Amino acid sequence: MNTRKIGDVILDIQNISLRFGGVKALTDISFNVREHEIRSIIGPNGAGKSSMLNCINGVYTPSEGSITFRGQTFSHMNSRQVAEMGVARTFQNLALFKGMSVIDNIMTGRNLKIRSNILMQALRNPLGIGPAQREEIRHREFVEHIIDFLEIQAWRKTPVGQLPYGLQKRVDLGRALAMEPQVLLLDEPMAGMNVEEKQDMCRFILDVNDEFGTTIVLIEHDMGVVMDISDRVVVLDYGKKIGDGAPDEVRNNEDVIRAYLGAGH
Ligand SMILES: Nc1ncnc2c1ncn2[C@@H]1O[C@H](COP(=O)(O)OP(=O)(O)OP(=O)(O)O)[C@@H](O)[C@H]1O
Ligand SMILES: [Mg+2]
Repeated sequence: MNTRKIGDVILDIQNISLRFGGVKALTDISFNVREHEIRSIIGPNGAGKSSMLNCINGVYTPSEGSITFRGQTFSHMNSRQVAEMGVARTFQNLALFKGMSVIDNIMTGRNLKIRSNILMQALRNPLGIGPAQREEIRHREFVEHIIDFLEIQAWRKTPVGQLPYGLQKRVDLGRALAMEPQVLLLDEPMAGMNVEEKQDMCRFILDVNDEFGTTIVLIEHDMGVVMDISDRVVVLDYGKKIGDGAPDEVRNNEDVIRAYLGAGH
């Protein structure tokens, strides 16, 4: 665990339940996330971890409960609205454009900001072409900054589909960072990676948290990683919360140990 200053609650999940027909994917889940924290969600396969992130970022609408982000409470908000509020995410299965270059993929994360700003300028100054172009240059510079930060300069123009899997995951992180999120939701960013790729990804997550001050909600199966980098951990099992606390508390929680042994982990 690192020693950054953890702030107030930025994201508060209150009594969230989610059903798919007869399947109760989530049952009455509550937990909060503090500013600048690395907050992990763990649990066996099918526990409801991805569903939880999907509720937070507006992909699913929970059947019960509410989510408060920076004091604003919502239960029905679409992904775009959540993104505009400052929540970005990466997906368990990569959502990149394989035929497009690294730089263009990361730029897609910037589109949200570009579109809203260009519209604002058009409203303020209908004939002004110059400011929009300057704006575009600033966005490109920001994307270049992310590319440097993630150390992927060598592949800027390479189609993403030609990159090794570990680098594709890094580009996906870059796309999310391009949104300049306050909260970053990461769904298994290290799944399928070799040890070296995992170490790199771990370092980038810690650097994002440290240098950009981004709050991170992380789903991860690798217990070593989770115990190393998390400030606090939520444990889900069959859609229910069975543990919540500092890594050491969670590691020694009997319900958690039982859930993992039972699931064959
Ligand atoms: N779109 C959906 N339609 C129907 N059932 C779903 C849907 N999404 C998730 N589920 C079900 O909800 C439960 C929780 O799934 P979820 O994907 O959230 O688990 P998870 O903890 O992310 O698992 P994994 O570790 O395998 O990624 C599972 O029983 C799953 O089959
Ligand atoms: Mg999942």
